[in-house]
Amino acid sequence: MKAAVFDAFGEPSRVLQVREVPTPIPGPGQIRARMIASPVNPSDLLVVQGLYGVLPALPSIPGFEGVGVVDAVGPGLLGRFVKGKRVAVINSAGGNWAEYAVIPARQARPIPDDIPDEQAAAYFVNPATVLALTRHVLAVPRGEWLLQAAAGSTLGRMIIKLGRHDGFKTLSVVRRPEAIAELKALGGDAVISSSEGPIEEQVRKITGGAGVRYAIDPVGGATGMGLFRSLGEGGRLVLYGTLSGEPIPVDPRLVISGRRSIEGFWLGHWMRERSIPAALMLFREIASLIRQNVLSSEIGRIYPLDRIQDAVREAGQAGHQGKILVRPR
Ligand SMILES: NC(=O)c1ccc[n+]([C@@H]2O[C@H](COP(=O)([O-])OP(=O)(O)OC[C@H]3O[C@@H](n4cnc5c(N)ncnc54)[C@H](OP(=O)(O)O)[C@@H]3O)[C@@H](O)[C@H]2O)c1
Repeated sequence: MKAAVFDAFGEPSRVLQVREVPTPIPGPGQIRARMIASPVNPSDLLVVQGLYGVLPALPSIPGFEGVGVVDAVGPGLLGRFVKGKRVAVINSAGGNWAEYAVIPARQARPIPDDIPDEQAAAYFVNPATVLALTRHVLAVPRGEWLLQAAAGSTLGRMIIKLGRHDGFKTLSVVRRPEAIAELKALGGDAVISSSEGPIEEQVRKITGGAGVRYAIDPVGGATGMGLFRSLGEGGRLVLYGTLSGEPIPVDPRLVISGRRSIEGFWLGHWMRERSIPAALMLFREIASLIRQNVLSSEIGRIYPLDRIQDAVREAGQAGHQGKILVRPR
């Protein structure tokens, strides 16, 4: 089969090559999916750069999620239920940027027929993270502010739409002022740019000096620090990404005196703690909210696998529009 492979960690458009590799065969408890499409997510790029929390042995094929049709199953009961079905291919080991991928049968989640392939390709990572952060980890109450950075991201836009749906208010931070009008039109209650003055000053003006109780940051560095300084007493900041690659310098006095806290979130860990019924309910809820255009992804350009270098180059560019997908065929 054809796959996008990297033999060394580095700049994705340089180290990724499309070449022939053996087609994988599913073992016990596994299924094989013929891949239809896969997104290029920031986590995929971090893996190829060698900057992700867990790194694979090399050579390796990236791609944590996607959609495919189950074309072969290994021994075991679960696989038989999904044979021939279109499924979300949740591949925690990576390997979806290929014509075929093998995963544990329990990580192949059938997708309702009315959800188009493009949405099905990005069915899991961002929608599940949005629900986990807002409804479970922070449990943001109706009417409260949720402060978020990198709000123009696919995930940030879902947060804005879910805020409208669930009744919490979003205070969104972007780095490019051009993005402000677009995110307001999407339903953002307040949208500010980090390039137009210190984040904490802008936030305190909007919240009447009190600061916010809930914040989420995938950027780090000065932006993460701005979010932390925007917390009111008892405020919580959840870190869930490393887009700037920079650490957050924290003033310990703010943590000590104001009972403010910083915590981390990783979807892989969080899902492992879900029971099977809870995971099933989560997937049902994602389908319903995609149908309602709340957890739908804005889809950008779709590249054939042969043009993987162009796909990762565009996905890494500032201001690119929509989620970039790769299609192996
Ligand atoms: N912890 C978890 O389990 C988990 C799960 C899902 C996603 N995530 C994280 O969520 C984040 C968003 O993912 P996504 O798929 O929605 O991303 P995406 O659609 O590719 O968008 C990336 C966004 O990040 C912004 N950005 C990039 N570098 C930045 C920087 N240095 N400073 C400020 N903004 C920056 C871009 O802004 P411009 O529009 O200005 O270019 C763009 O809006 C990523 O960090 C991802 O790793 C984490």
